[in-house]
Amino acid sequence: MNVTADGLRFPDGFLWGASTAAHQIEGNNVNSDWWHTEHSGGSIAEPSGDAADSYHRWRDDMDLLAELGFTDYRFSIEWARIEPAPGHFSRAEIAHYRRMVDGALERGLRPMVTLHHFTVPRWFAEGGGWTADGAADLFERYVRATAPIIGTGVRHVCTINEPNMIAVAGAIRELGTEAPPTAGLVLPDKATTDALIQAHHRATAAVKAISADIQAGWSVANQVYQAMPGAEAATAAYSHPREDVFIEAARDDDWIGVQSYTRTRISTDGPIPAPDDAERTLTGWEYYPQAIGHALRHTAEIVGDVPLIVTENGIATDDDTRRIAYTTGALQEVSAALEDGLDVQGYLHWSALDNYEWGSYKPTFGLISVDPETFARTPKPSAAWLGGLARTGTLPR
Ligand code: NOJ
Repeated sequence: MNVTADGLRFPDGFLWGASTAAHQIEGNNVNSDWWHTEHSGGSIAEPSGDAADSYHRWRDDMDLLAELGFTDYRFSIEWARIEPAPGHFSRAEIAHYRRMVDGALERGLRPMVTLHHFTVPRWFAEGGGWTADGAADLFERYVRATAPIIGTGVRHVCTINEPNMIAVAGAIRELGTEAPPTAGLVLPDKATTDALIQAHHRATAAVKAISADIQAGWSVANQVYQAMPGAEAATAAYSHPREDVFIEAARDDDWIGVQSYTRTRISTDGPIPAPDDAERTLTGWEYYPQAIGHALRHTAEIVGDVPLIVTENGIATDDDTRRIAYTTGALQEVSAALEDGLDVQGYLHWSALDNYEWGSYKPTFGLISVDPETFARTPKPSAAWLGGLARTGTLPR
């Protein structure tokens, strides 16, 4: 890592990638809990439908990412497709995801495979989900069945995406109609937290048994809590159950995925909204590209020298110049963290494509836009810009 005449130089071998998740891009994930909820007439505004039709168009996605210059592609494989009924593993779906791994490798993209990204088979959810007896056994059985997919050619496996957000969702479910209006106030459910940590350890062992070459980790949502004057203790108390326990549990992993988008400021009364004059993105979050720097440093304080990978970072906006500005700021933060000796091994942008943002298509995070009728893909200027950085490994001054 160096400041050169050309700009900020990133290390050789740095992972320059983009991330997606199966349910958000594939379409018609009909055996999943989410699909079922989307069609149950509840609070979800918009169903996922065909999403970006990436189940059929994954080759187009990978062609574009490779042509643009990216070196790594993070995608998730869908448990609900692979095991649509308990103990019934679909050979066709396993072969499908193996083709994706091979397809990435053929294009010169290193695949990073997420085993669980928010969605589970409907039968698993109906059986009680993560807090049911035997949930970790069932997850481990699924992970073992992914051996043909991840057994060769896959270096990075993410066991569970944002377990802390899953545990918050578990708490909201427990609260039912008592749920407060903003999830920011809800603490993760303790039983779900414990179950996910157990599932992570079991999955890690299973992945290692599949191939000793795989580097296993998980990705934690790091909201970046900033204390208002006098609220340091409140902030620490807030941060610990929400994310630190998940980072700590991962302490002897091969790597930790850091995912951050914005900040939350904490007063002695709890989280406070961003100032009225703050710029907000299409998710309503404060525009705060510095978030990833704080998240990396916070995570490193907990895990010491365990390697870190930014597995998600980005901005929901329909102004692509803001996406480039945000990502420039974020990469300056990553560069500063590297300069200070943190072992940051990659930056994978969220997201490769505009996609289904868990209830709505309006917050567009993609480097590549997707026509909702024809599914035609059009790279935005930010895609060429970030792919260009991937080629040179340098962020120009
Ligand atoms: C976190 C999640 O992993 C991903 O599914 C989501 O779309 C993005 N961040 C943006 O909210």
